[in-house]
Amino acid sequence: MSQEREMWKSRIGLILATAGNAIGLGNFLRFPVQAAQNGGGAFMLPYLVALLFLGIPLMWCEWAMGRFGGSKGHGTTPGIFNHLWKNPVSKYLGVFGVLISFGVGVYYIYIMSWTLAYSFFSLTGQYAGIETREAMGAFLKDFQGVSGESWLSVSSLSYLFYLLSLGLVLYILSKGVVKGLERLAKYGMPLLFIFGAILVVRVFTLGTPDPTMPERSIHAGLGFLWNPDFAALKEPSVWLAAAGQVFFTLSVGFGAIQTYASYIKKKDDVALNGLSTASTNTFAEIILGGSIAIPVAVAFFGIEGTTQIAQGGSFDLGFQTLPLIFMDIPGGAFFGTLWFFLLFVAGITSSVAIVQPFMAFLQDEFNLSRGKSTLITGATLFILGQPVIFFLKYGFLDEMDFWLGTFGVVLFAVIEVIVFVWIFGPKNAWAEITEGADIKVPKFYFYILTYITPLFLMGLLGFWLYDQGWQVIMLKNVSKEALPYAIGLRTMLVLMFLGLAWGVYHGFSKNKRKESL
Ligand code: TRP
Repeated sequence: MSQEREMWKSRIGLILATAGNAIGLGNFLRFPVQAAQNGGGAFMLPYLVALLFLGIPLMWCEWAMGRFGGSKGHGTTPGIFNHLWKNPVSKYLGVFGVLISFGVGVYYIYIMSWTLAYSFFSLTGQYAGIETREAMGAFLKDFQGVSGESWLSVSSLSYLFYLLSLGLVLYILSKGVVKGLERLAKYGMPLLFIFGAILVVRVFTLGTPDPTMPERSIHAGLGFLWNPDFAALKEPSVWLAAAGQVFFTLSVGFGAIQTYASYIKKKDDVALNGLSTASTNTFAEIILGGSIAIPVAVAFFGIEGTTQIAQGGSFDLGFQTLPLIFMDIPGGAFFGTLWFFLLFVAGITSSVAIVQPFMAFLQDEFNLSRGKSTLITGATLFILGQPVIFFLKYGFLDEMDFWLGTFGVVLFAVIEVIVFVWIFGPKNAWAEITEGADIKVPKFYFYILTYITPLFLMGLLGFWLYDQGWQVIMLKNVSKEALPYAIGLRTMLVLMFLGLAWGVYHGFSKNKRKESL
């Protein structure tokens, strides 16, 4: 390898950066909506089961694979799989690990740019005076350009904030692991926890905003989330949603944890690092994420109202309902700004982590410099971002999120446990996880990893295929208007896969000599 791979500078920096990787919009926007859509307390039990049997074992596998790959000069799954399984197909299976994270990055950066725009709107009072949910919804739709007739209706303000956000992400990536990613996390993460704590305190002191409606209170909101509902355990759809949330929030199944873990030393711990990534994220999810949007929405709109809002999708709660509520409370402009800026900080520390695998792929496999990799990454993100922005109203973003962020991650998780645990071998995988460990990983996790996690994953995938797979694959649930866009998106994903596979083919034959060393 012509250039040295970078390493994290300090353990605290590493922990903050991986926490920043996992803690993102998923914790504050997606989690509350998923929980409310799936019955609050009914959601939490499957969620915790999925965390223990899927999330944590996969987190350990991905950390272990990342360190393993890093010691061999590879920070992404094509190179890592190639070392784990000496078979020509392994590196092509690894392509999914670059495709999924990068593809999610394409639209994640756009959503993150809305949070930056909205913190600016809160600060400058752009939406002050809007009093109904409908009007606030119309404000959001105008901003996103989904209300106008032509697809050119995207507001220039929204485009500007997108360019600004993309520029920021690229700037940080261009600075590298220590001066870019690690430094961002060192400033960003403490800020995020402080903002989160302030908001939680504000929410908890709201009590019952309307004394004539005692059933609408913060207390009721917390009860909605925390009173378990065992009846829902028989609902397969709740299990799917819970598992999906665990994947998304922990960033597992994307091929991205491996990249961050590849920047540690061969003798460093992965067991405690993996566990602390998962537990800091869970803290941010259920303590911070679960204590802001849901309780506040229940306090103002009741449980039924909140469930209804959640049915509107991932963004209604965060971008319509909360700004409305903030305007109703003293100091609302301040808290609104805090809320959106919290989202922005959570978003940017995740955005850089979603895109870093692609950067590492270019640097590790093609020996490109950081500057060149940033240019290629930026141009590709920008080009692929255009349909996401302009075809938002035809469901392009949702369709992309489904294929990559919901279906793709489960598929890739199945692939990676098979390659790492079954093919590389359960004993070898276990040795990789426990080597240099700063904690004792309980032995029963060996069995969970070898049997339960893979079977659980295959069960999820199988159930989905049986339940709705065929209909989704045959585009049966897509409206006529949206059809060309859904087909376009699928074509784009196939082309992205082929492009990356082509890169793997050429990169790896060029590096043959290196591989055989
Ligand atoms: N976990 C992030 C969140 O909660 C989103 C995410 C998904 C992510 N996959 C990722 C972040 C890969 C970094 C890398 O918002």
